[in-house]
Amino acid sequence: MRTDTGQVFKLEDYRPSDFLIPQTKLSFHLGPDRTTVVSELSIERNAETGDGEPLVLDGDALALVDLEIDGETLGPNAYEVTPEKLTIHALPKGKTFRLKITTEISPSTNTALMGLYRSNSVYCTQCEAEGFRRITYFLDRPDILSVYTVRIEADRAEAPLLLSNGNPSEAGELDGGRHYAVWEDPFPKPSYLFALVAGDLGVLKDRFTTMSGREVELGIYVEHGKEQRAAYAMDALKRSMAWDEEVFGREYDLDVFNIVAVSDFNMGAMENKGLNVFNDKYVLADEDTATDADFANIEAIIAHEYFHNWTGNRITCRDWFQLCLKEGLTVYRDHEFSADQRSRAVKRIAEVRTLKAHQFPEDQGPLAHPVRPRRYREINNFYTATVYEKGSEIVRMIRTILGREKFREGMDLYFERHDGDAATIEDFLKVFEDVAEKDLSQFALWYHQAGTPNITVKASHDAQRGELVLDIEQSSPPTPGESRKRLMHIPLAFGLVGPSGEDLVWEAADGAAIENSIVHVRRRKHTIHFTGISERPRLSLNRGFSAPVTLSVEEKPEDRAFLARHDSDLFSRWQALNTLMTEAIIEASKMIRGGKEPSFPDDLLTLCGDIAADGSLEEAYRALALTFPGEADVAREIGSNIDPDAILAARDALVEAVGRANAASFEKLYENLSDGGPFSPDARSAGRRSLRNAMLDYLSESSGDPRRAAAQFERATNMTDRSAALATLAIRHPDTLEATSALARFEERYRSDPLVLDKWFQIQAGAPGRHSLDTVRSLSEHRAFSLANPNRVRSLVGTFSSANQTGFHRPDGEGYRFFTDMVLAVERRNPQVAARLATALRSWRSLEPGRRALAREALLRISSAENLSPDLRDIVERTLA
Ligand code: ARG
Ligand code: ZN
Repeated sequence: MRTDTGQVFKLEDYRPSDFLIPQTKLSFHLGPDRTTVVSELSIERNAETGDGEPLVLDGDALALVDLEIDGETLGPNAYEVTPEKLTIHALPKGKTFRLKITTEISPSTNTALMGLYRSNSVYCTQCEAEGFRRITYFLDRPDILSVYTVRIEADRAEAPLLLSNGNPSEAGELDGGRHYAVWEDPFPKPSYLFALVAGDLGVLKDRFTTMSGREVELGIYVEHGKEQRAAYAMDALKRSMAWDEEVFGREYDLDVFNIVAVSDFNMGAMENKGLNVFNDKYVLADEDTATDADFANIEAIIAHEYFHNWTGNRITCRDWFQLCLKEGLTVYRDHEFSADQRSRAVKRIAEVRTLKAHQFPEDQGPLAHPVRPRRYREINNFYTATVYEKGSEIVRMIRTILGREKFREGMDLYFERHDGDAATIEDFLKVFEDVAEKDLSQFALWYHQAGTPNITVKASHDAQRGELVLDIEQSSPPTPGESRKRLMHIPLAFGLVGPSGEDLVWEAADGAAIENSIVHVRRRKHTIHFTGISERPRLSLNRGFSAPVTLSVEEKPEDRAFLARHDSDLFSRWQALNTLMTEAIIEASKMIRGGKEPSFPDDLLTLCGDIAADGSLEEAYRALALTFPGEADVAREIGSNIDPDAILAARDALVEAVGRANAASFEKLYENLSDGGPFSPDARSAGRRSLRNAMLDYLSESSGDPRRAAAQFERATNMTDRSAALATLAIRHPDTLEATSALARFEERYRSDPLVLDKWFQIQAGAPGRHSLDTVRSLSEHRAFSLANPNRVRSLVGTFSSANQTGFHRPDGEGYRFFTDMVLAVERRNPQVAARLATALRSWRSLEPGRRALAREALLRISSAENLSPDLRDIVERTLA
């Protein structure tokens, strides 16, 4: 494992490399315990930087075997070498020279899953961000673009399949049962996009004809016998390819496009040129093993990685500070794709829920950082919700500000101007400034300033004069290292809703700030006078979530309820109901902490029932509307002195009250929504299932009767309904015979299917209550639990710490103790996964004093462990700072 040097990388220290590598030739002799890598580099002095000796190449845990320049072996005095660095002093004088480096690595003992490793006997690679240096010494930075030729040699029996980036060029047999294949990628690329896969895998093949008539051979490689489970992913891939042509004019550029699914993977997937490598969780799906949520994720991630071919690969990042240049933009693109394939309103609500659940707490806690950070110690810790999700929201705001057409023009210019470049956020913003002739310098603060801005709105209405005055004020809370904030440009979409739910037509003074029903908040305060408004309107603010901000508006519950019923903007309708629910849970949690019985306004209970039954709304929308804010969402709104037990009790009480008040209509809905037909993963069918399963959950909580869920578990013909019933049993009826028997039967049926067994771990880890820790502890000793498989670790430990607030934050600190043990154990093998897990403690300061002290102790215990990896140390120290 790498040791922490404590080095901090700074954006302002960027300078171009003194050397370039126009050509890279790699030759792999694969063996599980010993793989030899011969790298032949054409090196060129960078005319733009002048003399830069010596040549310093990056490494990580490497063993050098041989080193030649222009065909001559270098003597020991000509260079210095450590596992982390190769420094060559004696360089030829000319402009270019050839360097040949031979290294040896051991894929089978690579447990960090960065560089070249083995998963289920398949050799595979993960190089982003800095994994290529674990394969060979290189200028491992994204602004070094090189054309790669890769030769792979392996035992045919062990690895009949040999894949790398680009197009296949040559293959053949060798003595001793060995064989080889050569791949050529004509597009210059940074080393983080290199990939190699070798093993014995099954394949699903298909073809795609691009808009200019290029025939592309598509392959999805999976474990033998699971080929049919890749069918949905293949379908999603073809739809993605067509969509990118239609919506962005982007065509695929190689003869083949391959995807490989592996079962041990640190993240979701990776966009290596022409050879995407995926966590198999995001490839494999059929009705018996995957839920509707899995299908939707697969569609989104297949699209995401494919879209990177232009936003990430053809145009890459100059340095890792620019990560959001490819990630924020590509998330925006995959969001738009899913919105077009499914329901736009539903997709937008789901996005905002994710943003608020993951990015807001990051932005409001100790790990807050700008979308484009200025410093990092460990870049792997910056693959965050801020860089990805908030990065995507910024792109969405650019489209809002420019309008659809100018936005597309700007994107076209971006592709035209920067194809083949390693670009920056400044380059990206410039194309939009150029096409729209707008100054985006204030807007650019969204990239540079951390924290979630807040907007306060005060309204006063004068019926006699028919005037409405809005006082709008922006503020941004301080974040680590940024105590004073500058004023942002916040595009706030809004509507004034009249007495029968219609959008009022108005005229406004200070019209300068308003354009197409969007207030462009740029100053600290804006006062806007609307005229022609005879009756007091309701304010529908931040429609469509036009800006990632929090809102403080004094609003009566009746007004919110009105908007929840009548707002013409579906997102704002959802938001209004969600706010009402959150406020009701907060009130109830106060009653519980004060020793009182919680109670809820009848109007809210009726409103929930009406929305559930409103046939004019899509089922998926109704299901989302009826999904209560999570315990962590409520905690975030409360902000400080959090008692997770009170929040859970309040939330359960509201579920019960809503279920009880609407029992008859919910039962009817539950019955009517059952579909007998064949399974289809489409959005409409998924929506029906999700509404029906929401009804099941309400009815189970309010009746206290496990039989309905048990019956659904028995009869379910797909994984969505089966796992929903199982979760309801585990959460609403723990320790009943029905729950224990369903859990046992599920395990029995799926014990040899890791992705499904993950769900079994996950459901139990997420079932709330103090006693859940006992279950989770014993699951960590289950024979199917393994620290080596990231999906399994995330299913158990990740779910427990991020989704089980009452178990994790047990008042006696035992939840933290278990968690710390696990994090430290995972860290020995895989620092990246451990560091990600450790972020679960990021909101520790908002807990009530007792838990806060225990959480701090847990963090201190991690930080005082010996030989901590840079990954984990960085997270823990920032969290404690
Ligand atoms: N570029 C990949 C994606 O977003 C993710 C790579 C994550 N790498 C990491 N070191 N965490 O599709
Ligand atoms: Zn990405």
